[in-house]
Amino acid sequence: MTEQNKKTVQALQWTGTSLKVLDQRQLPEKLVYDEYQDAAGVTEAITTMRVRGAPAIGIAAAYGVALSVIQHCAENPEDWQQKVAIDIALLAKSRPTAVNLFWALEQMKGLLDSSLTNPQAVIIACAEKIHTNDIVANIKMGELGADLLAGVKGVMTHCNTGALATGGYGTALGVIRSATQRQSLKVYAGETRPWLQGARLTVWELAQDGIPVTLLADSAAAWLMKSGAIDWVIVGADRIAANGDTANKIGTYSLAVLAKQHNVKFMVVAPTSTIDWTISNGNQIEIEQRDKNELLPDCYNKEGLLVGAWNPVFDVTPGDLITAVVTESGVVLNPTEQGMRGLKNVI
Ligand code: MRU
Repeated sequence: MTEQNKKTVQALQWTGTSLKVLDQRQLPEKLVYDEYQDAAGVTEAITTMRVRGAPAIGIAAAYGVALSVIQHCAENPEDWQQKVAIDIALLAKSRPTAVNLFWALEQMKGLLDSSLTNPQAVIIACAEKIHTNDIVANIKMGELGADLLAGVKGVMTHCNTGALATGGYGTALGVIRSATQRQSLKVYAGETRPWLQGARLTVWELAQDGIPVTLLADSAAAWLMKSGAIDWVIVGADRIAANGDTANKIGTYSLAVLAKQHNVKFMVVAPTSTIDWTISNGNQIEIEQRDKNELLPDCYNKEGLLVGAWNPVFDVTPGDLITAVVTESGVVLNPTEQGMRGLKNVI
């Protein structure tokens, strides 16, 4: 694959003194970047899902800490570390499920604890490294995942796991990108209700790259599998427990159950920063519940009406429904606690 083929849309652009965030709520109609100079702004960008996708959230948070250090070293030279710690706590509350957020904040915190002569430079370099390493990991995973797809005719993906959700290139969508460079592949994308990451983001991203894609309603997935059109479902992850249980966008678990019924293989693609070694299984993952208004039509959003909405935005797929977890450090087939720990040895 040429370098040109690996260039994708950028969800995040670091300018050296600010972070530009592509407002994904406005895609595909409008391509608008908002610019942030402080951690509070970046926190808001994550909470409101201007930036979303586990790796991209982690990278944005890392830049948020960099902005905090730049700001507070200038404004509060005496107690800048305490002010930055407050910003880190704020960023940690932006969204609960994607572990990449906490992983990135830990990396930044680790540096702040040491005595630094030029904290701004060190912290910015760390955020930039987290960003660059994510792209490198995605390209590696793209190749490893594509190896599993040799001879495969059709795949389905869920949510958006592309450049928009990562530092660049993508996880599950990175595998699809790499595979389409090697062979012809029919790509199906589920709409991903209620936020429509599939319909608004994945389809747009693939269209930008000239990769043909077919959109389907989430509720059409069983029928697609029954038709025999797909051999694999390929998804990303927000948090993978030590036993391979995987939290990802709501609807992923349904797809895994359907895949089992139809003998379709199920691939999870995620960098090792998405693995939470501190939890033994998926029951320990906090599932974000978002506002009912993301689901309810406006006309039901009135005082006195007895119409509620249940809006969990992630679910957990048990490891035993997963055929392969692809990371930049290797592939775990049929994940089990032992399998994931074997991977840890190569990190
Ligand atoms: O709510 P979102 O859009 O942040 O959820 C994103 C997902 O669930 C993705 O599938 C996951 O973060 C992997 S992205 C490479």
